[in-house]
Amino acid sequence: MKNFTFTQLVLFALVWMFSSANALPTIQQPRDVFKPEVFSPHAGTVWFVGQHYNVTWDTSKAPVNITNKIGKILLRKAGPMTPLILADGFSILLGKTEVLVPLVLDSDDYQVNLFGDSGDFSDFFTIQG
Ligand SMILES: *[C@@H]1O[C@H](CO)[C@@H](O)[C@H](O)[C@H]1NC(C)=O
Ligand SMILES: *[C@@H]1O[C@H](CO)[C@@H](O)[C@H](O)[C@H]1NC(C)=O
Repeated sequence: MKNFTFTQLVLFALVWMFSSANALPTIQQPRDVFKPEVFSPHAGTVWFVGQHYNVTWDTSKAPVNITNKIGKILLRKAGPMTPLILADGFSILLGKTEVLVPLVLDSDDYQVNLFGDSGDFSDFFTIQG
């Protein structure tokens, strides 16, 4: 049995690394991440507790092969607050979904966080009781 030299072993390792790196793109199906820009609510928006509003966002840049088209909207407040789920299970390609404003404290530092496969935040806006 032939013994390989150290140089030969290094060369084999390099060839193996190079060929497996090249093989990666064919293993994974390319998918595009969609980070939709929130149009509404925006800076200056005031929501009232117990009312319905449409959250709207930009779908014009949605890729053809979107990774996850099931949307979710969270309500966040600045600071260490647990986000509330405002809407879930809608198509991110609709560009709009209606939400009911939950009973939360009056404040001007709320944001909605819209998720497809990548989350995007709205501007800060106000909720009043
Ligand atoms: C949200 O949008 C839908 C469809 O355009 C509309 O019928 C509905 O009245 C809107 N809701 C609110 C609260 O504006
Ligand atoms: C979308 O996926 C299909 C099937 O996987 C593929 O044939 C097509 O080229 C993809 N389109 C884009 C824009 O990535």
